[in-house]
Amino acid sequence: MRLEVIILAAGEGTRMQSSIPKVLHTVGGRPLLDHVLSVARDLKPEALHVVVGRSGADVRAYFEGTDVAWVEQIEQKGTGHAVMQAIDDVESSAMVLVLFGDVPLIEKVTLEACISAAADGIGVVTVDMPIPDGFGRIQRRSDGQIEAIVEDKDATPAQRTITEVNTGILAAPAAMLVRLLESITARNAQGEYYLTDIVGLAASQGVRVAGVDATSPEEVQGINDRIQLASVERYMQRREAERLMADGVTIADPSRLDLRGTLVAGQDCFIDINVIIEGVVVIGDNVSIGPGCVVTDSELADGVVIEAHSVVEGAVVGANCRLGPFARVRPGTELAEGACIGNFVETKKAIIGAGTKANHLAYLGDSTIGAECNIGAGTITCNYDGVDKNETHIGDGVFVGTNSTLVAPLTIDEGAYIAAGSTITSKVDSEDLAVGRARQRNIHGWVPPTKRK
Ligand code: UD1
Ligand code: CA
Repeated sequence: MRLEVIILAAGEGTRMQSSIPKVLHTVGGRPLLDHVLSVARDLKPEALHVVVGRSGADVRAYFEGTDVAWVEQIEQKGTGHAVMQAIDDVESSAMVLVLFGDVPLIEKVTLEACISAAADGIGVVTVDMPIPDGFGRIQRRSDGQIEAIVEDKDATPAQRTITEVNTGILAAPAAMLVRLLESITARNAQGEYYLTDIVGLAASQGVRVAGVDATSPEEVQGINDRIQLASVERYMQRREAERLMADGVTIADPSRLDLRGTLVAGQDCFIDINVIIEGVVVIGDNVSIGPGCVVTDSELADGVVIEAHSVVEGAVVGANCRLGPFARVRPGTELAEGACIGNFVETKKAIIGAGTKANHLAYLGDSTIGAECNIGAGTITCNYDGVDKNETHIGDGVFVGTNSTLVAPLTIDEGAYIAAGSTITSKVDSEDLAVGRARQRNIHGWVPPTKRK
């Protein structure tokens, strides 16, 4: 059956106290709406309608160029009114799934169950909330059939004691939805067109309304303020950490790992505390990431060890490389097998050969460095002349002495030596020793200045 999804995201989100639209606030590094769109797309719908309000321009701009069909709801007259704005764009033969843009952790299995439940009526995702305040209550007949959803503000004291609540997520055939929406009114405590009113109407007409249990209250937690945002974030992080552990990654403390993107990991990897993973990170087997590291959009091959407090971004790191502690590996870095980038070493657009070591205090930018080189402490590639970035090319087996200044553009051929403390401005041939510094003078009989009285 044709499926179309309507995502409601027109609410003002006043309790966020923010100039950013609520659905652009992030969980796991991605906007709330992006999470909802992802799970919706997993259901392979024919269309994705998103209802936004007056401040929807930023939301549209963020998702520009995607498969979303935008609908504007100028005045927020309730969830039923919001669905009405989109329903004209929906094919009458379709099954409609309604989602909220601020409920980011909803899972595919729950939605599939909700759609199946709507095959012969309406499917509603419900959950048991020990403290149901603020939610619509699920009212069931004595035979267990759902009879109505009563909003908190309209509920009697007896109805308020019901702990089964409406998550807001429901599915119904489009033609039925259109017919039911035509009959709802705004005669209620909030003066709004409640989507939930279709449930009572349908039930009274003999339509079957089936409840589907959410897997947990957290899955259907909506976000209205930054406290809920933080609690959803922690829950999502826990869930992601558990997935990784189930796949064979050891995590020192699942409450101190932050995944703001996706991590694909091999077996027997170890992630220490306070690590942040951003973008798409792919790691092989036996990779170890030390405490306090930030790894963004990078690939780490088998056996890579990143020691404490290193920042690695946009890098391809070969097998058994060692980075850090305190390494800064910037975009465009490619390290061949067994290379070492040690403490206080920064690399950028640096292609570094197998077994090459830059163990301490260096800057290697716009550089190609061969295999088995030794880059001494304090080596700086001077890649920027104030206008252009220039390249440094270093062959295999080059020894660069400490505190060397390599002024690009520059080529150092294989097997060359650079004497410590040199400033190198022109090409060094293979096997040569380049000395680019003033010769030492010792002044005999030098009289140090004496203090005046
Ligand atoms: C709604 C449900 C309630 C349920 C609760 C779960 C209704 C009438 N009530 O209540 O039964 O327990 O969610 O969190 O549906 N929105 C629009 N346009 C509007 C109004 C809302 O797009 O005019 C969007 C909001 O952006 C939000 C969603 O719909 O994503 C829910 O709106 P909200 O005001 O939070 O609904 P509740 O009153 O919490
Ligand atoms: Ca809400």
